[in-house]
Amino acid sequence: MDLMELIFFSLGTAVALYYGVRLLLFFRMFFPKLCFPLSKTFFTSMGEWAVVTGGSEGIGRAYAFALAERGMNVVIMSRTKATLDQVAKEIGETTGQKVKVIVTDFSDENVFSEIEEQLKDLNIGILVNNVGMLPSFIPCEFLEYKELDKTITKVINCNVKTTVKMCKMILPGMENRRKGMIVNVSSGIASIPFPLYTLYAASKVFVERFSQGLQAEYKDKGILIQAVAPFGVSTRMAGYQQTNAVTLSPEDFVNSSLQYLRAGGKTYGSICHIVLGWLLQSIPLKVLHADSVLQGLQDYVKKKTIQKDLVSASRMTNGKLF
Ligand SMILES: NC(=O)c1ccc[n+]([C@@H]2O[C@H](COP(=O)([O-])OP(=O)(O)OC[C@H]3O[C@@H](n4cnc5c(N)ncnc54)[C@H](OP(=O)(O)O)[C@@H]3O)[C@@H](O)[C@H]2O)c1
Repeated sequence: MDLMELIFFSLGTAVALYYGVRLLLFFRMFFPKLCFPLSKTFFTSMGEWAVVTGGSEGIGRAYAFALAERGMNVVIMSRTKATLDQVAKEIGETTGQKVKVIVTDFSDENVFSEIEEQLKDLNIGILVNNVGMLPSFIPCEFLEYKELDKTITKVINCNVKTTVKMCKMILPGMENRRKGMIVNVSSGIASIPFPLYTLYAASKVFVERFSQGLQAEYKDKGILIQAVAPFGVSTRMAGYQQTNAVTLSPEDFVNSSLQYLRAGGKTYGSICHIVLGWLLQSIPLKVLHADSVLQGLQDYVKKKTIQKDLVSASRMTNGKLF
């Protein structure tokens, strides 16, 4: 073998090895129970209480239910007391666990000392930083947001500051007890620069980098920290889209994502969203950012808004809390 042959052979072997290992790591995601097993007492071993921000609806409500079903008492927080009370009643009746509600608006300034006061006596083992908001339901360019200054403050407060402040509040107790789990809900669209969702996607990139950095700092202290980045989940934020192979119900998404808690600093939380994330990152940005694609996205969401308004109206007419 001459030198050139040796170089090409070594290069080929290195490339095959690299992709082989990546493929192997990818295939582990198909078998979360086998590859990232959790003991039966995993959740309760973290502590007595789980705290879920934005816990009265959608993904947060599903986390609160799932954690109570796994033996945790839960604290749920959102702006609407009636919905919180209803969910607390349902969780209590279904699981027998204690539920505490805190009414707060995370888009406001200075809400955290009051929350800290209410949480100070609890042994908190799990924190789910779930609350998040879109600057506008219809995707649009940055300068087109209504009341731009107010919107920027609200989105940053809700999506970024709340995550950081809740970690600052709850992490010291976990550090002292040398155990705990923090789940920070990001979004699949943070995987690429996402025009028309720029502010929202960038706020979720912050959530991911913050989680991954924090995990590296605290993993030796027995604390697991993970960013969970779903794509479509049928909730109010997503216009209650019909569930299918890609758009999951909040309950299905959460039950799946809990199986990936030991899968590292970031997960898409379900196998279909893992595949979607991989596909999205494989498509050239030139294609994804093409005018026709963005226009199609905007038209699609506009159509969904009409559907969302109809669903909300019908729920209000039926007097249902969701
Ligand atoms: N659904 C999806 O397809 C999807 C995809 C990717 C990522 N996510 C992320 O998943 C998380 C949950 O989203 P979701 O779809 O479950 O949303 P959702 O159905 O709209 O529920 C949001 C929850 O947060 C509460 N909330 C909203 N704004 C709040 C505020 N300013 N202060 C306090 N509580 C507030 C809501 O209750 P009140 O309105 O009563 O306050 C509700 O309990 C978010 O971080 C979102 O970015 C969702």
